[in-house]
This record gives sequence, C-alpha cells and structure tokens, in this order.
Amino acid sequence: MNVKKDFPIFNAHPELVYLDSGATSLKPQPVIDAIVAYYSTYSANIHRGLYKISEKASAEYEDTRSVVARFINAPSPNEIIFTSGTTESINLLTSTIGGSSVGQGDEVVTTVMEHHANFVPWQQLAFNTGADFKVIDINENHELGIMKEDGHIDLTNIITKKTKIFTITLVSNTLGTINPVKEIIAAVKAINPSVITVVDAAQAAPHLSIDVQDLGCDFLAFSGHKMLGPTGVGVLWGRKQLLDSMPPYQLGGDMINEVSLEKTTYAKTPHKFEAGTPHIAGVIGLKAAITYLQQIGLDTIAKHEHALASYAIDQINKEFGDEVAMLGPSDMGQRAGIVTFTFGTIHAHDISQILDDNNIAVRAGHHCTMPLHTRLDITASTRASFYVYNTQEDVDKLVMGLKKVKQTLS
Ligand SMILES: Cc1ncc(COP(=O)(O)O)c(C=O)c1O
Repeated sequence: MNVKKDFPIFNAHPELVYLDSGATSLKPQPVIDAIVAYYSTYSANIHRGLYKISEKASAEYEDTRSVVARFINAPSPNEIIFTSGTTESINLLTSTIGGSSVGQGDEVVTTVMEHHANFVPWQQLAFNTGADFKVIDINENHELGIMKEDGHIDLTNIITKKTKIFTITLVSNTLGTINPVKEIIAAVKAINPSVITVVDAAQAAPHLSIDVQDLGCDFLAFSGHKMLGPTGVGVLWGRKQLLDSMPPYQLGGDMINEVSLEKTTYAKTPHKFEAGTPHIAGVIGLKAAITYLQQIGLDTIAKHEHALASYAIDQINKEFGDEVAMLGPSDMGQRAGIVTFTFGTIHAHDISQILDDNNIAVRAGHHCTMPLHTRLDITASTRASFYVYNTQEDVDKLVMGLKKVKQTLS
C-alpha cells in the first residue's frame, strides 16, 4: 500500500514514523480539501438558510448521513446521529436511554478491557441509579473470560433477567483483541432478549468493515478522527425504534418541532438528538474520510495492518525475547493492528521519549484503560498502532529505536 504521499504531514516531517493512530489518525489531502472547500466556498449554517450556499451545506451534511449508513450497513440514514465522538455518543446513551431503562437492582454489564469512554459513563449510571455494575474479566490469553477453549461463550451468572445494558468494545485499544461481538451479542440475547446492547467501535470502524445488522447490536459508536477524519465529529447509530422512544439529549435550536409559551414538541429522529449548530465541516470531512477508506477497501486495510502487527511482534520477540512482554492474544487471528508491550523494568514514558528522539511516535501510559492495567498488574505500557500509511520500514525503525532504548536505559 503506497498512500503516504496523500498525507501532507509527511512533507512537513519526512522523518516521522507515526505509530499512534490508535490515539488519532493522520489526515489525507482529500479530507483537508473537503474541509477547506466548506469554509472557503459555502460556509453557511445548515437546515435554515433558504439560499444556495446554505442549501449546499445542508445537502453535504445530510448526504454524509447516507454515506455513514452505508458504511456500517445501517437500515436507514435516519438512524445516524452525529456527535462529537465516541465519548459523546456513549454519554448521549447514558443520559437518555440509560436514565429511562436502568433502575435500582438492575444490572449494567461491561468488560475490563473497555476504554474509559465506555466504562466510566456506565459505572456512573449504575452508581446514580443503584444498579449493579458487572465487569467481565479477561483470561490468561487476554481474551474475555467468557470465551471457553471450545469456542463456546459462557455468560452464566453474568447476563441475567435483571440485566438492562450490555456494552463491549469491538476492538480493544490496548490489547488489540478483536472481540467476537456478533456471537457474544447473540449469547446475551439468548439469555435475555430485552438487554440493550451497545458496541464501542472506536478502534474498529477505522480498520474493519462493520455491519450493524450482522452484529445484531442495538447501538454502535465511533469517532471520525481515528478514521482519517477531523477531530470533534463522531457517530452514534441506533435502532430506529429505540431512538424514537428515547428522550432528547440536549435541548435548543434545530431539535424542535414547535415551541410555544406552554410547551415544546421535538423533531423526529435523528434531528431530535442534534441540538444547536453541529460540526458541519467535521461531518463533511468525515464523508471525505469514508470515501477515501472505501477507495482503498476496508479488507485491504485490515490485511495491511494485520501484516504489520504480525511482523512487529515477530521482530520484537526475535530481538528482545523475554525482556519484552506482549499484551493481547497470542493468536494473531484475534488481533487488530495494535501492538502493546512492557519492556523489562523500563518505564513506558522513557521508552516513548527515546523513540521520539528518533522521530518515532508511540503511545505510553495506560491508554485510558486503567482497570485493564490494574488487572494486568502494570501501571503503564507502550503501544504502537498501525494504519494505512505505515510500512514495514516503520516497524524496522521501531525495532532499531527499541535497541537504542535498551542501550541507553538497561
Ligand atoms: C476503544 C475506544 N473507545 C472510545 C474512545 C474514545 O474516543 P474519543 O476520544 O474519540 O471520543 C477511544 C479513544 O481512544 C477508544 O480507543
């Protein structure tokens, strides 16, 4: 895959080895062009203006809804809500459906490998409502503890008739594990069909093709900035029937049907959930990002990253053996393009600093997964995450950089 030339940041920093796409991705020229075109040629507000540039802005914004719906195989563009990112998508859920569906004695279930964005809001919801907050553990292979050796999913004592919400990440941002979410959701619904199932696809949407109908979930969230799009824009997909039954999230302009002194009636889904002027340029940039990803092909992207991750794990293991402890499943078939490790007693921040001295950008710390790090009995780890612009040469430079870390610090 030779797409580096599409990313102008490499003109500004030709030496940059960017291995932090799990945090945010770089932006290709077509995405930058789409944003610049909006601000420089039709930067009007949407849905309100009865003049040409506003109509164009509205059409681009609404067309993105259709593009996103096709991207995740949603039955209707009206099920796509634009938010500021995965974090806001999940907070939208906890403050709407969460409040109306969860009460004292109910259960909210998640996993120990969640990003704080898909952990803290649910934990707080359980705390506020008196519900039981249940967290699925991992096994020694860093898969969910509900995965049995024969491939069977065992949810005994986890999902019960009291469970109201089940939420899970499709890809772990720290372990790189691809969870078998379709099978897990089917198992959840087999025990209790009324459980509302939520999928955090922040680390999946940029890298794997997603089909919400095939997954069988009720809600799915992701962020534009991790998939070559701008920051400040994200998506919440939900089943129309559920969205229609939910109260609005924020109140104000653009989400109303009629306002009088006595009362207000609300617009229909999805506008009911999009109060105020949205991130119009962001949404338009997201469309360009999806178009770019689809031109390469999500399957090609997944294969490319997988090959880089496999190569990185092999090279690091070959060079450093037991000095490096890899996080995540040993079965490469269950992993995405994320390679996270600890390196003897060397602190992740020191590793990151020395790698940065060599123009290599990785992530160091707990990656917003403190419960997982506590579970693994570590305080921090180093993460290299791969995307379309990375090459085998980047991995070789990472290994060279780690050799320098070892020479300097051990
Ligand atoms: C798995 C996962 N979920 C949620 C988030 C939060 O995404 P955002 O900060 O874009 O809202 C992240 C960000 O790293 C993530 O990796």
